[in-house]
Amino acid sequence: MSVLVTGGAGYIGSHTCVELLEAGYDIIVIDHFQQSNIQSLNHVKQLTNKEFKIYHIDLINKDHLETVFLENSIDAVIHFASLKSVGESVHFPLKYYQNNIVGTLNLIALMQQYHVKKLVFSSSATVYGNTQEVPIKENAVLQTINPYGRTKLIIEEMLRDIYTSDNSWSITILRYFNPIGAHESGLIGEHTDGIPNNLMPYITQVAIGKRKELRIFGSDYPTKDGTGIRDYLHVMDLANGHVKSLNKMKDSKGLFTYNLGTGKGYSVLEIIQVFEKATGVNIPYRIVERRHGDSAVCYADPSKALKDLEWAAKRDIFDMCVDAWRWEKNLNASKV
Ligand code: UD1
Repeated sequence: MSVLVTGGAGYIGSHTCVELLEAGYDIIVIDHFQQSNIQSLNHVKQLTNKEFKIYHIDLINKDHLETVFLENSIDAVIHFASLKSVGESVHFPLKYYQNNIVGTLNLIALMQQYHVKKLVFSSSATVYGNTQEVPIKENAVLQTINPYGRTKLIIEEMLRDIYTSDNSWSITILRYFNPIGAHESGLIGEHTDGIPNNLMPYITQVAIGKRKELRIFGSDYPTKDGTGIRDYLHVMDLANGHVKSLNKMKDSKGLFTYNLGTGKGYSVLEIIQVFEKATGVNIPYRIVERRHGDSAVCYADPSKALKDLEWAAKRDIFDMCVDAWRWEKNLNASKV
């Protein structure tokens, strides 16, 4: 089976390419390399000892995108390509709507035209907004509070409409919780431009000495230690969720939505403690004001993915910290 992977050079995309190749899928990768680099794909080839085609293409250029459909026989698409910074989306909403929505429209129109009707879409737990009810099930109320989240929700709604109009499609929407960590080899991981927004890349940058201290956004949340609780999952487990989704879609039609998370929540202070234990490196921190838009607690009910896809996260928080740290050290040594 031949799978087109959009955004395959990115953080989750590159790890999924490894899992797909190891599971025996053929892949074709498209990326515009604005927030990713070709080196990750070279490392995917090195890790798997397999070759695949790479197209340097922006999805918003439909003519360029069409060449990929003309030159290849494609059975399914995994669609990762997306701008993903919440803060940037608030300041440049048009950029986000243009890139994420128009790019997806072009992709889906070409899939329809070329009769490629199997799609895995990379969504996010951000579509649940600041929900109060945990663990979060897939049928929770959907509400987003920033343009990035709205692009994910709009695409989800579009996909539901497409399936309603033509149920020969097979569509799987995956809502990721908080992916962290890196491939065990330390060869691929998350490339962060500038100051990281997310917790784990910030911690590893403090650990390596690039940043002085971690700022903890609020210690007065109604949680056990007052800091925010999230469902962190290893990026390789998340990658495996895509393979499990494709396996299921080989011979079934329908539109399915799954949470991919561990079902366990860890607070910011707990993450610091585990990271320090896993790496032996001290993380200095300072408590500051809450970050606008953050919720107190967010973790998944992943039971639907276990039942339907036979998927469950295998790696624990200790593994996630060890692998994130190995990646940061390699990055710093400029090996990757
Ligand atoms: C954030 C985004 C979410 C996006 C996800 C992608 C916001 C409001 N939410 O989720 O839409 O899908 O990233 O991975 O930006 N924290 C600190 N100090 C830091 C960074 C984070 O204390 O320097 C805390 C946060 O307050 C939160 C936890 O760490 O409690 C996790 O934060 P983060 O990694 O940014 O993920 P989310 O906020 O869950």
